[in-house]
Amino acid sequence: MQTYAVETDSISINFGAVQALKDVEFKLKAGEIRGLVGKNGAGKSTLVKVLNGIHHQKAGSLRIFGNEITKATPPEVRRQFLSMIYQEFSLIPEMTVIENVFLNVEPMKGPLVDDKTTYGLVKNFFDSMEVDIEPHEKVKNLNTSDMQFVEISKAVLQNKRILLMDEPTAALEADQTDKLFRLIRKLKDRGISIVLITHHLHHIMQLCDSVTVLRDGQVVLDEQTENIDLQDVIYHMLGDKGFSERRRKFKAIESKKPLLVMQDVRSKNSRYPISLELYSGEVLGLAGLKGSGRTEILNTLFGIDPALSGSITLNGREVILTNPNEAYSSGLSLIPENRHTQGLSLMHSVYFNTILPILDRLGQTFVDDRQGKSLTNHFVERLNIRTDDILASVSNLSGGNQQKVVIAKSLANEPKVMLMDDPTYGVDIHAKSEIMNIIDEFTSQGNGVILVSSDLKELLQNCDRILIVKEQRIVQEIRDVLATDVTEEELENLIQQQREEER
Ligand SMILES: Nc1ncnc2c1ncn2[C@@H]1O[C@H](COP(=O)(O)OP(=O)(O)OP(=O)(O)O)[C@@H](O)[C@H]1O
Ligand SMILES: [Mg+2]
Repeated sequence: MQTYAVETDSISINFGAVQALKDVEFKLKAGEIRGLVGKNGAGKSTLVKVLNGIHHQKAGSLRIFGNEITKATPPEVRRQFLSMIYQEFSLIPEMTVIENVFLNVEPMKGPLVDDKTTYGLVKNFFDSMEVDIEPHEKVKNLNTSDMQFVEISKAVLQNKRILLMDEPTAALEADQTDKLFRLIRKLKDRGISIVLITHHLHHIMQLCDSVTVLRDGQVVLDEQTENIDLQDVIYHMLGDKGFSERRRKFKAIESKKPLLVMQDVRSKNSRYPISLELYSGEVLGLAGLKGSGRTEILNTLFGIDPALSGSITLNGREVILTNPNEAYSSGLSLIPENRHTQGLSLMHSVYFNTILPILDRLGQTFVDDRQGKSLTNHFVERLNIRTDDILASVSNLSGGNQQKVVIAKSLANEPKVMLMDDPTYGVDIHAKSEIMNIIDEFTSQGNGVILVSSDLKELLQNCDRILIVKEQRIVQEIRDVLATDVTEEELENLIQQQREEER
């Protein structure tokens, strides 16, 4: 009989009325890479949290390398075998790579870690993985991708045999993602078993031996990847509600009425003056690599990094935006890049987060609770936010549903212009199309959207115009996305050229 790395029988767990997992059978073989996919709120994170012992199942059983794990099992037993690779790393920035890898382990020679041995271990491991990181480097000097490698190395060098990765590529650039995948393949060759959660389904098809699809907390597909294709996975994720490829139909630029104009705007953080126009009814895309200056343009418009020279005109009137409050009251709103640190107050409820920006409109001293609640319910319904209680903390919502709360919060202020910084990051295809429908409705009322996205297909499908941003400059304009019929590959090339020039 085969011993699985992980094996569950009929695991169920609920949070209040939400049945997050129902009778889940999940098997992971030794040395297998298994993709775990599903829409936002399907139960993916919950399942790996049960494996990791953060949550305990209400029913069903769990074995790790044949060891029965119950609530009474000491945490060390799991920790001996498995490690979760979080997006927020557990590394200590001030310490070196070696110190981090062997933190709390002290493998050799008593309390003083023998530097030569540990250096050798880490260096050898990095070499065998073809990772180019200096073991004596302080972690704070590494980029995100290298920090992630250190995190993974730490797990492997501490002999963990199962790695759980919940959206590990979310913070990575395309070439860093390729590097991570090469590493994952090498880990597999060493016999390590991996669970990979990601919304990038083509990654699953490329990398995984097998895939589990969850829908509403239940396993709806469990197959070897070679036996299925991408369409099968999508079909099972969505259930009967299929989805169709969309293209934006509204051609806003014909309106010729600039809603927002930036003219030679410079800020503290800008290297070149920025000029752009956004028309009434338009979705204007900003395409560029992370760090190309896309976010900086939005930050200037939102008063986070205020303009020091040049002018910003909204609806024909010049506006001075020296802080986000002024931007807000002028009719701008921002969906920030990082919803956890900038977009939401996680401890607070859906209700509180939604009405937060408009508290003064609901009454200066006494908040009109009824009006606030009906507004919140309106958005929960309209944006299809999956929650059974608007007074429950936002931290309980799945990633995609949290993002919808950020959008609700933004819409509650009735802005004229929405600045959206990668709004569908970590969001499943169904919620993505819902967010795009919201954008359509919003712009059809004469409003405008500036959309930053790392998903080029999304830009091509949803923008009237796209500006290419490179090294803090707008270097090119694709005037009519619909008519020019630019492909994803061509757009990728335009964006990537910067790196070629740098070499
Ligand atoms: N601690 C919690 N308290 C209450 N409800 C929770 C908690 N954790 C998860 N849930 C609920 O359980 C369901 C599954 O959530 P989970 O985070 O596992 O989804 P997911 O598949 O990881 O989604 P995403 O792709 O958005 O990250 C959701 O409805 C979520 O709101
Ligand atoms: Mg999740």
